[in-house]
Amino acid sequence: MFFARKLSTRTAWSILCRNMSTTNVKNRLKHHNLFRETAIINGKDYSIPETFAVYDPATKALLGECPDLGVEAVDEAIAGASTAFTSFRRTSPVERAALLRRWHEIVMDSIDDLATLITFENGKPFAEAKGEIAYSASFLDWFSGEATRAYGDVLSPSVAHNRAITIKQPIGVCGIITPWNFPAAMITRKIAAAIAAGCTVVVKPDSETPYTALAMAKLAEMIGMPPGVINVITTKTHLAEVGKKLCSDERVKKVSFTGSTNIGKLLMEQSSSTLKKLSFELGGNAPFIVFPDANIEEAVAAAINCKFRGSGQTCVCANRIFVHEDIYDEFSTLLTEKVSKFSVGNGFLSETTYGPLIHDRALAKVEGHVNDAVAKGGKIAVGGVRATEVGENFYMPTVITNATQDMRIATEETFGPVAALFKFSTEAEVIGWANSVDVGLASYVLTTDINRAFRVAEQLDFGMVGVNTGLISDCAVPFGGVKFSGFGREGSKYGMDEYMTVKAITFGGIGARY
Ligand code: SIN
Repeated sequence: MFFARKLSTRTAWSILCRNMSTTNVKNRLKHHNLFRETAIINGKDYSIPETFAVYDPATKALLGECPDLGVEAVDEAIAGASTAFTSFRRTSPVERAALLRRWHEIVMDSIDDLATLITFENGKPFAEAKGEIAYSASFLDWFSGEATRAYGDVLSPSVAHNRAITIKQPIGVCGIITPWNFPAAMITRKIAAAIAAGCTVVVKPDSETPYTALAMAKLAEMIGMPPGVINVITTKTHLAEVGKKLCSDERVKKVSFTGSTNIGKLLMEQSSSTLKKLSFELGGNAPFIVFPDANIEEAVAAAINCKFRGSGQTCVCANRIFVHEDIYDEFSTLLTEKVSKFSVGNGFLSETTYGPLIHDRALAKVEGHVNDAVAKGGKIAVGGVRATEVGENFYMPTVITNATQDMRIATEETFGPVAALFKFSTEAEVIGWANSVDVGLASYVLTTDINRAFRVAEQLDFGMVGVNTGLISDCAVPFGGVKFSGFGREGSKYGMDEYMTVKAITFGGIGARY
């Protein structure tokens, strides 16, 4: 068995890695100073005696410690960001573009070190981690271009001789709360837009993956980002108070959050007293619809890209794969054959294609969905078990056939490497199923019929639709959802607007002689 052979060669590696420590992390980096175990407030390293531990999800080895900060530290960070804003808002768009361009260059020059940090703290394979750094850097490059394009309008109001213009201005200090699944890209997708607009930020990276964010901030400091523009708060046990502080402090004018719908609802409530501008990228439950006219090989390849990226731990991963009854057997056989060849293991091994899940709660959810599906008549075509021989956090990439609408996987996001295949007969039926969930982030349509592509894409209640592709994330394309997937758009020509306000200046006609 391919899997069995792969697994046994990895046991020794897992045991070796369990003895890893901070020194090992540093030793793997070309530039040791990119491994930082302090927060950053107002351009200075910031630590307190209370710390929390960060572990490698692949080996459970201790990677290091970070300050477990509370509201006092957030207060200082907001004060630093507020002071920095008074001068940063007056920098020219060209200066801010140059800062972002230099940050982009140094991030790409440090790609190996940054990817190493991602593989250590998130577990994704090194090659995929490098891909994330390139994706992350693309937002710095993109928004360096957008910085100089915050255009306003010239308007003719209804009163004769009056004229009006609009200008866009930075909103102020922004609270940025990011997840563990893209430790670099979710930082830059938000911060680059904020900086292009002239805002300053207080960032709270996830406690599972603080080191990539801290290294990114160090690189920003190295290219001359003014102190106080980027503040990074690390916390674990005070997470709830820190989130509340960012949402309820009047000096913070905007909060951008990527995470779960439940936390999004809580943050929105906490932001109401200060009427904060918000953008939320919350959960998804993406349908991936394969029509009978699709090219099956290409559809399987797209499904793999879409479903198993980050071991299924992205908000845009396919969660429900709907395959037309005429091609269901062919599609499921080919998908199963490909998935059974995946190589699961430690992300630093060159042959590894898929890494661990982030923690035991993630494993429990995946296991819960698989068990529920099996109890309701689902058939496991491949996988369906933990890969304990590789490590405690590994789950075998799984394909389940005979999936039905009564299964948990049909209504809840799995956030793991489980491809559930649902059979459908008609276009109307599959659109109804696709739209039946309360979230609406990404969706996918595989068809060679251009009329069907438009017809279905327009009827899907989702913020994003991929047609004949499983990968839609790109700095040039607006990223965001509808319904309980949140609101606001990141990246693209719309991304900077989330960090700006529109001011209208009206010139009266008094004394006008024309
Ligand atoms: C996410 O999972 O939140 C982001 C995915 C992406 O940017 O592709």
